[in-house]
Amino acid sequence: MSSKNLHCAGSEVTIDAPSTSDGSEMWRIACDSRKLDLNSSYTYLLWCRDFAGTSAVARADGDVVGFVTGYVRPQVPDTLMIWQIAVQTAHRGRGIATALLHDVLRRASEAGVTYVETTITSENEASIGLFGALAAHWGATVERSELFHSAQFPDEHDSEELFRIGPLSFVHTQVPA
Ligand SMILES: CC(C)(COP(=O)(O)OP(=O)(O)OC[C@H]1O[C@@H](n2cnc3c(N)ncnc32)[C@H](O)[C@@H]1OP(=O)(O)O)[C@@H](O)C(=O)NCCC(=O)NCCS
Repeated sequence: MSSKNLHCAGSEVTIDAPSTSDGSEMWRIACDSRKLDLNSSYTYLLWCRDFAGTSAVARADGDVVGFVTGYVRPQVPDTLMIWQIAVQTAHRGRGIATALLHDVLRRASEAGVTYVETTITSENEASIGLFGALAAHWGATVERSELFHSAQFPDEHDSEELFRIGPLSFVHTQVPA
């Protein structure tokens, strides 16, 4: 699996697909974010085994500092669903989340993906900004609609708004490193 390098504030940051040995750090980063739904630690290990091709980790000097998890929707194979993305606080604002998204998009585009979806809760300005910037980069449209209302959740959970971004014209454009 190929990897991408970028330089952030003196650190060498590498982006590549995760392996199961990254699952525990991904769980810790999700936990520390205090924004993401924290799934079981088992989920992250299993995800690394089964969906590594549509997921990525960022390593700064060898340590995992960010991750993105995604999957291609089985019934909508032109669409990559981004499930979770997080970067450790000390490494934010340096383009790492953008690089993670571009990495999974580059790989997914080779399998015919031209749309990205994610869900965001209304108060998450960083995430809204991140995906808005991604759409602007590609000159793509953002369609917003409610996917799950809070009443559908069995626990205290905000409504999840669906952001559908595309089409992304990979055929004519190079995904940046
Ligand atoms: C959202 C998150 C992953 C962004 O990571 P990051 O590496 O700092 O993001 P980037 O540096 O690539 O930023 C890309 C763009 O996102 C937007 N963005 C990032 N942080 C933002 C913030 N706090 N407020 C508003 N917009 C923000 C900006 O448009 C930014 O582009 P710019 O720097 O040119 O203005 C990070 O803040 C995080 O881990 N948050 C907690 C977990 C979370 O909420 N995940 C999303 C759940 S859907």
